[in-house]
Amino acid sequence: MKLLDGKKISNQIKEEIAAAVADMKNRGEKVPHLAAVLVGNDGASLTYVGSKVRSCEKIGFRSTLVHLPEETTEEQLLQEVYKLNGNKDIDGYIVQLPLPKHIDEEKILLAVHPDKDVDGFHPTNFGKMALDMPSFVPATPYGIMELLKRYKVETQGKHCVVIGRSHIVGRPISILMSQKGEAADATVTLTHSRTKDLKSLTLQADIIVSALGVPGFLKADMVKDGVVVIDVGITRVADPSRERGYYLSGDVDFEAVSRKASYITPVPGGVGPMTIAMLLKNTLLARERHKEMA
Ligand code: GUN
Repeated sequence: MKLLDGKKISNQIKEEIAAAVADMKNRGEKVPHLAAVLVGNDGASLTYVGSKVRSCEKIGFRSTLVHLPEETTEEQLLQEVYKLNGNKDIDGYIVQLPLPKHIDEEKILLAVHPDKDVDGFHPTNFGKMALDMPSFVPATPYGIMELLKRYKVETQGKHCVVIGRSHIVGRPISILMSQKGEAADATVTLTHSRTKDLKSLTLQADIIVSALGVPGFLKADMVKDGVVVIDVGITRVADPSRERGYYLSGDVDFEAVSRKASYITPVPGGVGPMTIAMLLKNTLLARERHKEMA
C-alpha cells in the first residue's frame, strides 16, 4: 500500500506557486490577490477560510477576508459580491459554503463573475470544464486529479466508481475522470443515495472516489485487492476526550481498507490540503489571465 500524501504534494505545489509569485515581484508586477467571503460563524468554515487566508500569506499572495454576520441578508451579500466583481485589485474570490439557510446559494453563485470565480462553481466555468475548455476547475476535484498525476496512478481504461453526486466534488470528478488525458480516460460510474447494490459496483472498481460525508462508510469487504482509494470525506466526529472536542474522519475505514489498497489517501492529510493548493493555483491563473486582458 502506498499513501497518496496530499500534505507533501500540496507543499510542492505551493512552493511552485511561491516561486512564480517571487518572479512576478522581481519583475515589478502585481501579485495575485484572493478574497474570501464568510457569512456567519460555522466552526468548520472558519477553519477552512482561516487556512486559505494563511496559505495566501505564506506563498506571497495578498488576501482579504470579508467576514459578515449570520444575519446578513441575501441582498446585502449580493452587494458584497458586486463590489468584489468590480474591484480591479482582486483577482479571484470565493464565497465559502454552506451559506445560512435564509440565503439562496444558487443566486449568490450566479452573481460571481466567471473571470473571478476561482472556486469554479459558476455555470459558465462548470460548462466549460464539462466541454474540456479552459476554465477554473473546482479545487477539490482539481486536487484529486493532480494527486493522481503526480503519483502516476494508472487511470486509462480503469473503472472508477464515484460515491456522491455533489456539485462540488462527485459530479465534477466524474466528468473530469471520464475525459481524455492524464489522470483521466477512465470508465466512470457515478453512484448516489438512490443507487441499488452499491457494494456490487465498488467491488468492481479499480479506483474509488468517496465524497459522501459518512464516517467509515467504505468497508474492506466492499473493495477488491489493489484498489486505489480517494477519500474526500472530512467529517467532525464528537469526542469529548480530545481538547478540540472532535476528531476528523474520512468516509473510509482506513485501517482495514488500506490493507487491500494499492494507493490510498489519509484523512487528514490527503485531499484536504490539495484543495487549498489548487485554489491558490486557480488564483495564480486568474492573475495571469487578468494580466493578459489588461
Ligand atoms: N465548502 C466546502 N468546500 C468548499 C469549497 O471548495 N469552496 C467553497 N467556497 N466552499 C466550500
